[in-house]
Amino acid sequence: MLKAPTRVVVTGAAGFIGSHLCERLLADGHEVVGLDSFSDYYERTRKEQNLQALRGERRFTLEERDLVASDLSSSLRGARVVYHLAGQPGVRPSWGGHFDRYVQDNIVATQRLLEVLREAAIERLVFASSSSVYGDAEMFPTKETALPRPVSPYGMTKLAAEHLTFVYMRNFGVPATALRYFTVYGPRQRPDMAFVRFMEALVENDEIEIFGDGEQTREFTYVSDAVDGTVKAATADVVGQIINLGGGSRVTVNRVLATLEDISRLKARRRLLPAAPGDPRHTGASINLARERLGWEPRVSLRDGLAKQWEWFQDTRASAHSNEVRSSS
Ligand code: UGA
Repeated sequence: MLKAPTRVVVTGAAGFIGSHLCERLLADGHEVVGLDSFSDYYERTRKEQNLQALRGERRFTLEERDLVASDLSSSLRGARVVYHLAGQPGVRPSWGGHFDRYVQDNIVATQRLLEVLREAAIERLVFASSSSVYGDAEMFPTKETALPRPVSPYGMTKLAAEHLTFVYMRNFGVPATALRYFTVYGPRQRPDMAFVRFMEALVENDEIEIFGDGEQTREFTYVSDAVDGTVKAATADVVGQIINLGGGSRVTVNRVLATLEDISRLKARRRLLPAAPGDPRHTGASINLARERLGWEPRVSLRDGLAKQWEWFQDTRASAHSNEVRSSS
């Protein structure tokens, strides 16, 4: 583990995974500088909620910054580790005119950060990449050595950012590691992602939209497992490595829905839509490298993780509802 107290920087600190990572780093005793641009991919209020527990922490500061437009040198001064999680997420919306945002927030922003890190004496840059770089993978479980063949513009931009990171490593010695996260879920999951959408439709008794036949599979990864792998990647001997972080099993979307019906004791109404362009049919991680090189193991099963996300979902709904009642009375 990184010796505390150490000054670390987390980009995308107000996001789903970023906010959990900041909490873990604070609990480990570090001084955390969070950067976030509060981009409009989803509402600011949700990001403020993500930051709630962090805001009161003495060793946490948040700087509202766009990585492309800002001078980052003061934010990065004295930092020993940089966790670069900021980016434009989402596989399915990355087509058409939206593409510019993906290029800007995933590729250009990463390049700007790397330019500053050329001169900085950091010990590690951990770059948050994605299973989307594999596209329709040539083998399952997919090893890091598989040829990346993204099927979405989003996946292409994450792959480009990964390459950029290692370009700066080769030329200027930036000590980088890239992690390929596989569909992370849990409390604070982004509102456009499957589990949040399914839970919302379930409680409203709306139809749950399934893209395709529901027999596509994903290697879902619980957020605390993803965070634990990320923290381990900052100190393990893995400079120059690309490492998959996957939850340990592949599950169909239909299976997820059946489990959620069981946990919630609610019946889902399903509506099958055409498969979405950009969605790979299957994802599945080989996690042997993470086991060997990080000493990491996913700990949370899909059923347990889904139950925790369901609990969080109900709590946040209940508190949003009581706030509404209070402000209207
Ligand atoms: C997720 C994240 O959104 C990406 O940002 C991330 O890069 C990617 O994981 C990754 O692994 O790297 P995705 O796998 O599409 O992307 O995650 P979900 O939105 O949770 O979708 C999971 C599955 O449910 C997909 O097969 C999708 O087609 C399906 N789905 C999603 C539905 O059937 N209906 C919905 O309303 C939403």
